Amino acid sequence: MKRGLRSRLVQYGDDEFSLFLRRGFLKSAGYDDEALARPIVGVLSTASDFNPCHGTAPKLAEAVKAGVLAAGGLPFVFPTISLQESFAFPTSMLWRNLMAMDVEAMLGALPMDAVVLIGGCDKTIPAELMGALSADIPAIVLPVGPMLAGRHEGARLGACTDCRRLWAEFRGGRLSETDLDRAHDQLMPTSGTCMVMGTATTMATLAETLGFTLAGAATAPAVSAERMRMATATGRRAVEMAKAGRPRPSELLTAAALNNASIVLQAISGSTNALVHLAAIAGRAGLGFDLAALDAIGRETPVLVNLKPAGEFFAEDFHTAGGVPALLRRLKDRLDLGARTVAGETLVDIVSRAPAYVDEDVIRPLNRPVVASEAIAILSGNLAPQGAAIKLSAASPALVSHEGPALVFDSLAELARKIDDPALAVTPAHCLVLRNAGPVGAPGMPEAGALPIPKKLAAQGVKDMVRISDARMSGTAFGTVVLHVAPEAAAGGPLALVADGDRIRLDVGHRRLDLLVEESELAARRKRWSPPKKPARGYERLYVDHVSQANLGCDFDFLVKHPVR
Ligand code: FES
Repeated sequence: MKRGLRSRLVQYGDDEFSLFLRRGFLKSAGYDDEALARPIVGVLSTASDFNPCHGTAPKLAEAVKAGVLAAGGLPFVFPTISLQESFAFPTSMLWRNLMAMDVEAMLGALPMDAVVLIGGCDKTIPAELMGALSADIPAIVLPVGPMLAGRHEGARLGACTDCRRLWAEFRGGRLSETDLDRAHDQLMPTSGTCMVMGTATTMATLAETLGFTLAGAATAPAVSAERMRMATATGRRAVEMAKAGRPRPSELLTAAALNNASIVLQAISGSTNALVHLAAIAGRAGLGFDLAALDAIGRETPVLVNLKPAGEFFAEDFHTAGGVPALLRRLKDRLDLGARTVAGETLVDIVSRAPAYVDEDVIRPLNRPVVASEAIAILSGNLAPQGAAIKLSAASPALVSHEGPALVFDSLAELARKIDDPALAVTPAHCLVLRNAGPVGAPGMPEAGALPIPKKLAAQGVKDMVRISDARMSGTAFGTVVLHVAPEAAAGGPLALVADGDRIRLDVGHRRLDLLVEESELAARRKRWSPPKKPARGYERLYVDHVSQANLGCDFDFLVKHPVR
């Protein structure tokens, strides 16, 4: 395999001419022959003015470059698509696969011997890992790191758990607009990713667990000196990987590593979005992600990391408590510690090297968990033949076994139009159903699964209801919310057949979600159903034609690596 500038030469039919041209252009940029002979490290920067979570990415890229240069490599910073949750319309999930394709394409097209992947906001690390696994060149992830926690009137605030809490208080008339505005200024006090155990912290933690980062890289705050030192160390390590040509992502992402990720996901009470991302990441390596196994792991794995929304602390506390290495040590008897990392070591090395100190309020001992039962459960039943997920650690215990009448919203637009209508015929016992909000139906499976409590019930103090959808939910949200129902309504799943007033039974103890309607009636309704109109053109058409259902990761069928081992 050709290395350095000789790799991936542009095809003019004369490789030496291609190299001559390439070197000439680089000389125009000020590089000399000594520099051009070095191993090349690509530095994928996801800096974008549309991505405030990645506000420090330019500084991180500079620190990575310093590490690469110090270790004898040649760094090249390059951009890809960058996705931020509150900017990417209609939902960043629609564009995750496009970003993954961008990453894979650039890793395959540009001359680099290794790559540093700077990411953090929810979809970015999954997209980077998906692309890197398909390109399969040595790759090391550098999360941008979490924000520091906010402070307001004596309370610590975390995006976006407290964004949702404060908004719900405001909607319910319990918080004035003035007070909301004052708290708003403190919700996101620094650059970085959301500092609760939302999707960003979850995916950074899982990337570290899977061995794709240096130890401790998931949790050091975005604005800390430690984060900058981590960037420099990441650059140095990338040069070693460039010289060795390994480890390649496919060497790290084994079935054992994925099993470790499932254990950690349950122990951190991570975002349900991780189910979709892990399935997609596994698919790029030709591996399956077993939701039934994840459910079984959950039954034996208490929640140990005490972060919002399930707990009380923030990502910076997780870091100073010992971070992922301390958590891995807590779980060492359950993990496969032989799993390897980008640093060329195993989890055994990380666990044995981690300092003895652990803040036991933040990373709880096994006999004093935050939540004794599982964080995430996987359901099946006649309403979700290919599965659905519920974050039990964020659900109301009184609602996880519940039977009630359905109130159906056919689309996000209908939900927005009707949910606050004072005439809405709804009671706290209703199961709110949102459909056509899945991968194909929305399209892009937005984080709309935590349907707002109807205003008239919120005003009466109702804080939670059973909500069921083929959508996703933010990792920072809470409530008795059944998500990722598969197959989705737009793909002809049973969710498409639910009518107002149908009885629905949620029985988490038996892992069931059932529509209590006669099969003959459902068959009659199925005959009347027709699929929604597809987007006419462009990426959205490609998306709906090729996206898989949530249980398979919502990746494109033509990007999944078919099982080879
Ligand atoms: Fe970027 Fe939360 S919106 S991490």
